[in-house]
Amino acid sequence: MDVEEAIRTRRTHKVYGSEPVERAVLTELLELGRWAPNHHLTNPWRFRVLGPEALERLKAAVGPDGAGKLDRAPTLVAVSVLCTPDDPVAEEEDLLAAGCAAYAVLLGAHNRGLAAYWRTPAILREPAGRAALDIPDAEHCIGLLHLGPARQEQRVPERAPLDDVVTFLA
Ligand SMILES: Cc1cc2nc3c(=O)[nH]c(=O)nc-3n(C[C@H](O)[C@H](O)[C@H](O)COP(=O)(O)O)c2cc1C
Repeated sequence: MDVEEAIRTRRTHKVYGSEPVERAVLTELLELGRWAPNHHLTNPWRFRVLGPEALERLKAAVGPDGAGKLDRAPTLVAVSVLCTPDDPVAEEEDLLAAGCAAYAVLLGAHNRGLAAYWRTPAILREPAGRAALDIPDAEHCIGLLHLGPARQEQRVPERAPLDDVVTFLA
């Protein structure tokens, strides 16, 4: 799959098969993530692959209403970014870089025929959820990537027409 096809055809999946993503494949995906552009080469992203104990801790933190959603995909990866509140410009750049890294993981998964989903559950902004995944105060969690075998065709959500979002300045 070439890069443009991957960008156009990647979709958010919410239904998965039960087979976890193999560790070797996960390692490839996270290795891809670290090639995201990042100013000053700060390498600001951090990835935490949830094992069964971490998943149980997160479920306990979110409670019964939210726990079911954590079982949708067999493999979950929390993506966070190092915080640098004393340097707001660097902090913004690092946040964007970590977003690029997360996207690279999604594209790599799609390229391998895996389904994926970038989710931002509120629990990961709360102390209990962060503690469940050992995310220190010095990191901001930007998402919980869901990964696994695809089980459904996804509809293609419309994007705004190009004219709505592009201006060619004189
Ligand atoms: C930063 C970010 C956070 C997201 N958080 C959620 C979420 O919490 N719940 C959800 O259903 N989708 C979430 N999504 C997925 C978007 O809803 C999805 O990308 C959008 O509907 C377009 O669909 P597509 O990914 O198939 O193109 C998130 C996407 C991004 C980039």
